[in-house]
Amino acid sequence: MVPTSTHATVQVSKSAPAGAEAFAVFIHKQSKPQDTYPSLPEAQQTALKRVLSAGLLRGKSNEVSVQLMDGPGAKRLILIGLGNREQFSIECLREAGAALAKAARRNRIASVAVFPPQIPEAMPPFPGLPKIDNAPAIGIAALAEGLVVGSFEYKEYYGAAKNGFDGPKSRDIAFEIAAPADAQKALSAAVERARIIGEGQNFARTIASRPGNDINPPALAKVAQELAREAGLVCRVLDEKEMKRVGMGGILAVGSGSANTPPRMIVLEYSGTRAVRPGKGSRSRPIANRKSQIANTGPLLVVGKSITFDSGGISIKPADKMGKMIFDKSGGMAVLGLMYALARLKLPIDVVGILSSAENILSESSYRPGDILRMYNGVTVDVTNTDAEGRLVLGDALAWGIETYKPSAVVDLATLTGGVVIALGKALAGVMSNDDQLVEELTESSRLAGEKIWRLPIWDEHRELMKGDAADLVNAGPARDASPLQGGAFLSYFVNWDGDDAIPWAHIDIAGVADTERELPLYVKGATGWGVRTLVEWVSRRASARE
Ligand code: BES
Ligand code: MN
Ligand code: ZN
Repeated sequence: MVPTSTHATVQVSKSAPAGAEAFAVFIHKQSKPQDTYPSLPEAQQTALKRVLSAGLLRGKSNEVSVQLMDGPGAKRLILIGLGNREQFSIECLREAGAALAKAARRNRIASVAVFPPQIPEAMPPFPGLPKIDNAPAIGIAALAEGLVVGSFEYKEYYGAAKNGFDGPKSRDIAFEIAAPADAQKALSAAVERARIIGEGQNFARTIASRPGNDINPPALAKVAQELAREAGLVCRVLDEKEMKRVGMGGILAVGSGSANTPPRMIVLEYSGTRAVRPGKGSRSRPIANRKSQIANTGPLLVVGKSITFDSGGISIKPADKMGKMIFDKSGGMAVLGLMYALARLKLPIDVVGILSSAENILSESSYRPGDILRMYNGVTVDVTNTDAEGRLVLGDALAWGIETYKPSAVVDLATLTGGVVIALGKALAGVMSNDDQLVEELTESSRLAGEKIWRLPIWDEHRELMKGDAADLVNAGPARDASPLQGGAFLSYFVNWDGDDAIPWAHIDIAGVADTERELPLYVKGATGWGVRTLVEWVSRRASARE
């Protein structure tokens, strides 16, 4: 089984399981002691009244209180705050689910009967956004997602000191969400989908968390092959010989410093409609991707930057926090998580995922500043900074993927620039695109999925910044001006040299959101698996638009 580090099971049930160790109930700021909770057993109702009358819980968002219960039935009552009812949202339920999962773990509770709150028919994804319909089912699904994502514990490298000398002891927490009999079938389906998506995200986080001494490009290819075998995907791996043969000068240069851990172009194909057949790409044309080549019936193409460790290369990074650069493969991990979920959700659509993977390290064989590379589409690049490596591995992947699969739309995800963290911070990703419609689809999907993206422009001025003297392009502009946009502008040349927008494409810079240094409502410290939920939502929408 591919590893997900999920320590919970989540199900829907008709009535509260008799043997549950704890009952969980949700409280708004407006909740009063005299409120009644129809499905909640008598003893818990009484306890809840006592807690609220005593003012032990105010109902603030993600506030948690665990009460001991006497007598028969569950021995604990877990109360979770939902905040102000006026601000109630889908995201609020997702966070409440995570808060519950974390509290259950802290208190070593093995099974929880969850009594979900009343959810209005329409509710916004986040406070302040327009309301969406079908909020009860979407809300319960978000709660379930929160339970799965909140139960993530990454322990693959704990030794005897942390695990105890008898080995790891952590058990799965069993969550059962109580649902009225008439809603049970619909809610079970919604919760099952949420569980798969949460597991996809946790799978992405697990592999993202693995260190550079274990996850290098060939090792990552093995993980993808294992996933393909288990889930029924097709996996193709281009090794350095094959990449040399077809002329992928970007990824080969970035990976040239690591003798024992060579680069890999890792491709995962999911065909929900028909076989995804690679077209016969001709290698001779200097610029691929002419309008005539592109039919709008092709698969979706999702490309992820997968630098297993980014030292910066000869343009070396400062030592401080360099270890965090194991997370420089997070774009590719989002693609892995998407493919994991897709194969299980069996959506009627074709999707190709590419993990463009190299290790950016120093040695006598490393590429150098001043080197001139010839990329897959024939474009030449003057390397002005070996630390701007992501755009080189992605440029080859985009040009090759577009030529090979003739996709109807392309999305890439990458921890591409420190600049996007300066511009947008750690809560949102930056999206750059040649297509307003695609940005709108992604924005809506991200909101529903509980992730935030914000559009940044790519204009001719930014594309100009990337033009070279000695070669067609430079990989880093003359100054740090608009650095995330430089990255996006560079990539645009590998989607379409002329910029005449033949194919809808979006680049999502996830450098700020891919990992977190402090605990967040949804996440513990470390990799977040950002992007899996947005991508699954986007692909789901595309799939239902086809039907
Ligand atoms: N992987 C880094 C970007 C990054 C920085 C991700 C901090 C997460 C946190 C990327 O390869 C990089 O080094 N980008 C450079 C580009 C520059 C040299 C043009 C950057 O942003 O400084
Ligand atoms: Mn770099
Ligand atoms: Zn990088």
